[in-house]
Order: sequence, then C-alpha cells, then structure tokens
Amino acid sequence: MKIAALKSEDKRSPIHSDTIKSLIDLGVEIHFEEGIGSGINLNDSVFEELGLLKKSRDDCLKNGDLIITNQSLSSSELEITKKNSTVLGMVNPFSNQDFIKECAKKNINLVSMEFIPRITRAQKMDVLSSQANLAGYVAVIESAKHLSTALPMMMTAAGTLKPAKVFVIGVGVAGLQAIATAKRLGARVEAFDTRDVVEEQVQSLGAKFVKIDLGETGETDQGYAKELTPEQIQMQKELQSKVCERSDIVITTAQLFGRPAPRLIDNKTIDVMKPGSVIFDMAVESGGNVEGSKADEIVVRNGVKIVGISNLASRVSSHASLALSNNYNNWVCDFFDKEKAEINFDFEDEIIRSSVIVYGGEIKNERFK
Ligand code: NAI
Repeated sequence: MKIAALKSEDKRSPIHSDTIKSLIDLGVEIHFEEGIGSGINLNDSVFEELGLLKKSRDDCLKNGDLIITNQSLSSSELEITKKNSTVLGMVNPFSNQDFIKECAKKNINLVSMEFIPRITRAQKMDVLSSQANLAGYVAVIESAKHLSTALPMMMTAAGTLKPAKVFVIGVGVAGLQAIATAKRLGARVEAFDTRDVVEEQVQSLGAKFVKIDLGETGETDQGYAKELTPEQIQMQKELQSKVCERSDIVITTAQLFGRPAPRLIDNKTIDVMKPGSVIFDMAVESGGNVEGSKADEIVVRNGVKIVGISNLASRVSSHASLALSNNYNNWVCDFFDKEKAEINFDFEDEIIRSSVIVYGGEIKNERFK
C-alpha cells in the first residue's frame, strides 16, 4: 500500500513531521505533494529526510492507494485518481454530493472524517473537534483585535479599567474554547446553549450560564443540538438581546450538523448594541448566525463590527496540522491490517460504518444515496 498526502488549498497540511512516525512505522511507502508543508514552515527536505518521497500532485493521485487530503478532489483530479484507491480526509460531504457520486462511479473509496462518530474510542480521530477547538481560540484573539479596549481589568494609577464583557452563544467544542480563552485574557464571560447539559461545563470554566427557557430543546444521540422551531428561535433572539446589549464581544458558534446554521442575531439586536462592540460570527461559512455577516469581511452597522472569517483553524496552521494529521493517522493505524498491508474495511465496526461514505463502487451512507 502506498500512502500519498496532498497539499491543501489553505495553509494546513494533512501530514506533519512531528506526527508522521506512526505512519512510517506501518512500513508502507509514503509520497507527498511537493510544497505540502509550505503553510506550516516545513520544507520538503524535512519530509525527505524522514524517508518520504516527494512527488507531483498528479503522481500522488495516480499512484496512491490511500490518498490523504484536507479537501475533496475536482472531477479532473478524480479522472486520474487510481481505481480502487481510498480518499481519506475532510471532504465536506454535504457540499460535495456530486463528488461522492463520482467516487462511487469511478470505484474510488471515500472516507469522510467529518463523519467520525462521537464515541469515546473515536475521539482521537475527531477532526471537527480538533479544528473547532482551535477555531474557538482564534475567534477570541481576532475579536480582541477589533475592540478599542483591553480585555482584562486593570487597576492603574491612571484609573481602573473595567474588564470586557464577552457573550458566547453556542457552547460546543468551539464555544468552550472561546470561553476558556476569553477567561484567560481576563474578560467577564457569559454563555448560552440550547443543550441544558452545557450549564455545568460553562460554570466549570468560571463563566456565567445565561438561562433562557425555550421549552423542549435537547440534543441528538450524537450530541448535536436539535433544530429549534421558528417560535423558539424568535423567543431566543428576544431574550438574548439584553445580554448582547451589555456585551463588548459576542461570539456566535451555533451549528446544526448537515444543515444551515440558525440565524440568532438580527438587525434589531445589533441596533441595541454599543458602538465599538464586536460580533464574531463563527458560523459564517455555514449560513451565518448573524444577519448581514459576510465571509472574510467586516461589516459595520451602527458602529458595531460584524466579523466573519472563514477557515479559522488555518490561522494557527501548525497546530491545526498537528492535530489533523494525528486524527488521520489514528484512523489509518487503527484499521491497517499488518499482514495484508492494506486497510481492513470491516463494516461491523461503528467507526468504519459511519466514516466510509463510498466503498466498492457503492454509496454506503444513507444520507447521500
Ligand atoms: P456544533 O458545532 O454542531 O454546534 C455548536 C454548538 O451550537 C453546540 O453546542 C450546539 O448545541 C449549539 N447550538 C445549536 N443551536 C443553537 C441555538 N439556537 N442557540 C444556541 N446554541 C445553539 O457542536 P460541536 O461543538 O461539534 O459538539 C457539540 C457537543 O457534542 C459537544 O459539546 C460534546 O458534548 C459533544 N461531542 C462529543 C464528542 C465525543 O464524544 N467524541 C466529540 C465532540 C463533541
């Protein structure tokens, strides 16, 4: 089996010199696309010294039995990809349904790391969590840059400076890291999520949980939030508006797996916020939580800056690549059959059943059939 790792469109790399040992130990040939580490300050020579072989992108696609990538492939790339090979990575399946169909037609297996199940055994492979965690950190740092005040309280001879107030809406992996980062920087933090179980986690980070009673909410068996009714969303908007009004930074992270993000802040709320305050929409790429937010733009409304930055984890590309490559390596190592030197696609295994979208020319995942 030959493993081939592709260079990403963003700064992240699917392999990292610090984590490659587990793949090398499998005893297989590892190819990498030239320039793969350019976004994380790793020259090709670093990988070559570790015994990996530098190739062109086309050669990686033509010869790799297991192709590791941070993005899906184009149709022309699939055209030259080796038949019966396996593409593994973050392939954004909900937005790339034609890609899934083409993989099936061309007999290329597809593993979507976004579909790693949320079970304890699979945590080490969970790309959504590893990247969301870093994104939560970046969201706070970027928001702080746009504020004209400091975050911590400072008692100085020139007077007392009050701490900034941060409100985090949506407390999953990204939200928890945003709370922790804002607290470390000395802000006063409040947070809200529709999943009640989160209250204790918020308090354990020293932040205040905002109680908003929306009636029946809850979560799916995978730990994702259930979609609210339009009436519940309306109620949430009205009740959280008061918290937005007193906040200097509002960070929204609310997502619904496989569906557009809920719209949680509208112009009515923005218009009661203080000029100079910042709203950071972490869901900007999946529809946006905030009215008027735009990817990679700062929209100013009544002096309130609405910030939307895509691919936040790529802003800390070295750590993001370290975590991602570990996620991928853990999948590969767990399912590598040493005797046959190939991946053991055992559909009795919950992780295989969930993450393998296409196998043997057949779409396996019900959602994409
Ligand atoms: P996510 O990225 O799908 O959503 C972010 C947050 O937005 C979630 O906490 C969700 O409840 C919240 N949200 C959705 N609609 C909202 C609304 N209208 N108002 C406010 N908040 C709203 O979720 P993420 O971060 O991927 O994970 C959610 C949970 O899944 C985690 O907190 C954790 O409990 C669980 N999890 C379990 C793992 C495991 O066991 N392996 C791994 C990762 C997460």
